[in-house]
Amino acid sequence: MSKRKSLSTSLIHHAYQPPAGFEAPQVGVHKASTVIFKSTTEQQARNWKSKAGYTYGLHGTPTTFALEERIATLEGGLQTLLVPSGLAGITLVDMALLKSGDEVLLPENAYGPGRELARQELAGWGITHRLYDPMDAKALAEMITPATRLVWLEAAGSVTMEFPDLTGLVRAARAEGALTALDNTWGAGVAFNGFELGADIVMQALTKYPSGGGDVLMGSVTTRDEALHLRLKGTHMRMGWGVGANDAELVLRSLPSLALRYAAQDVAARALAHWCAGRAEVAQVLHPALPGSPGHEHWRRLCTHAAGLFSVVFDATYTRRQVNAFVDALKLFRIGYSWAGATSLVVPYDLSLIRAKPAWPGTLVRFSIGLEGTEDLQADLEQALAALRL
Ligand SMILES: Cc1ncc(COP(=O)(O)O)c(C=O)c1O
Repeated sequence: MSKRKSLSTSLIHHAYQPPAGFEAPQVGVHKASTVIFKSTTEQQARNWKSKAGYTYGLHGTPTTFALEERIATLEGGLQTLLVPSGLAGITLVDMALLKSGDEVLLPENAYGPGRELARQELAGWGITHRLYDPMDAKALAEMITPATRLVWLEAAGSVTMEFPDLTGLVRAARAEGALTALDNTWGAGVAFNGFELGADIVMQALTKYPSGGGDVLMGSVTTRDEALHLRLKGTHMRMGWGVGANDAELVLRSLPSLALRYAAQDVAARALAHWCAGRAEVAQVLHPALPGSPGHEHWRRLCTHAAGLFSVVFDATYTRRQVNAFVDALKLFRIGYSWAGATSLVVPYDLSLIRAKPAWPGTLVRFSIGLEGTEDLQADLEQALAALRL
């Protein structure tokens, strides 16, 4: 070996080490596939399932461990796994807990792609699914068979916003020995605590409120039971579902303002939902905190807050074309999927494509309230309603 190392070697194996003891309020971005061990003894003693050390970037870095711990605290659980999207969280739970011959039950108003996952993928692996009415805990109890391993819960329901009797649904599933997994994206760990209501697994699309920026895709799967966590972690590892450190840091950066953003968006959404309820063009406002909305009594009993999300069903005399014209006329509300970011969003839905038996005849429009001024959003709705009548 020559005395003088090559330029590349000197730049890769540099002698300088930054001083230890750096501390700042924000968690650092630690990017790694390879993690360096000090010796073979250390390398061979390291356990990838434990947070006592690091083995490989996919299994955790200081950045992802920090986010996992904070999400576990947010959900009131003990262990959290991070996945690349909320939908990947649903996939992880299904893949870890179900095998050929098993059945999973989903609420009729579940997040659509979760239902498609069951219909298109699980079915091919010999896993069956059925849809249950989330507003009827008794009927759920009667549907469960020995093959039913998992019952998904969602509150409020996607798009149609029914708030179920979560405690009754959990009780029904438990009595028959099925595990329950809650999609807690709407509640975000702020509106209610999924574990206190009895769920075994709490999944969340961190894409929504925890990220808050409309610019990150990420999901989490949280448990209180260590054996269940290890089952999920095994599948998580074998599937290779890690998240990037930059994305994890963005969520870490947004978490301190989560409760404040959630509360502000709740106040604004309730004000706008009340205003919409007073409009003659609107047949029904679907917002769990509004009396008359399906499951309002369960929301009142179980929740301290509500997400900044609501839907309105237009009077059936307005055609789909007229409702589209209303949506197109909105200026501050942007047309787009997802929710919980700073920009208010709007999407029209054809109810007959979502539910086999739609409860309302008119076209539904869902609003996600962002962080703009409430009076500006109300004025935008008011001017766009004029387009409805054209
Ligand atoms: C209730 C609910 N669960 C899960 C997801 C999936 O999240 P992601 O978009 O991160 O896959 C969404 C996304 O809209 C959702 O609304």
